[in-house]
Amino acid sequence: MSRLLDDLLLCYEEMTREYLLSEDAHLVRNVRLKHAHTRRVLLTVQDLCREEMLSTETTRLAELAALLHDWSRFEQFRRYHTYNDGMSEDHGDASAEMIFRDGLLPGLPDAEVADIADAVRCHNKLAIPAELSPRAQELCRIVRDGDKLDIFSVLLDYLQYPDDPAVTLSLKEGMDLTPAVVEKASLRLNPPHQELRTKADFILTRLLWAYDLNYRFTARMFLKENLLPRMRAQLPPSAAADRILQEAIAHLQAFVR
Ligand SMILES: [Fe+2]
Repeated sequence: MSRLLDDLLLCYEEMTREYLLSEDAHLVRNVRLKHAHTRRVLLTVQDLCREEMLSTETTRLAELAALLHDWSRFEQFRRYHTYNDGMSEDHGDASAEMIFRDGLLPGLPDAEVADIADAVRCHNKLAIPAELSPRAQELCRIVRDGDKLDIFSVLLDYLQYPDDPAVTLSLKEGMDLTPAVVEKASLRLNPPHQELRTKADFILTRLLWAYDLNYRFTARMFLKENLLPRMRAQLPPSAAADRILQEAIAHLQAFVR
């Protein structure tokens, strides 16, 4: 582990402690969720880099990007009481800005800071912009995979023991699938968040993440943990959902082969 990562971890614990000491129980519960998420994403990214035999250099930068990827989440929840970017601010953009504003990567060459910030900024976008440097794109692919793997498990836990609508971004509780969303999902198109109407839409479109995984490591984990069938099981009977699930699994199986 690099010295800078050590320092940043201390800084992370210090920053989050302030929010965790709040008297607002709702804030504390949600901060705790994101705090643990980021720590797990860091561990997953370390596993991914090792399993994929990525270089020491890439690993060092990817670890920093993983720890920084949701840096603005705590302030976002304190200010807006939601993790829904559409109702507040884009947390990828905000986290990237904080890297510069708060000088979170002291002593690192400008080009490395820029690539980490780009990876953080784009970790939550529908696609990785082609104009990013090759190294920033690689860092972004790594963080996106680590993020998806953890969000999937968090979501499955939450759906079993729902206690806070913040996890499904306060979508309508209904278990009806919106036809336009099903249609897009059947074409493997991931609709933008604004087009999702219900919690069921949200769950269905998570299955499409299978097409947005970048590393065999992550695809293998999805298969091993049975993540897609467990997510589909949260939805009512639907032939379209079954088909979307089967195609997504077949895609992962072909990817890891
Ligand atoms: Fe994020």
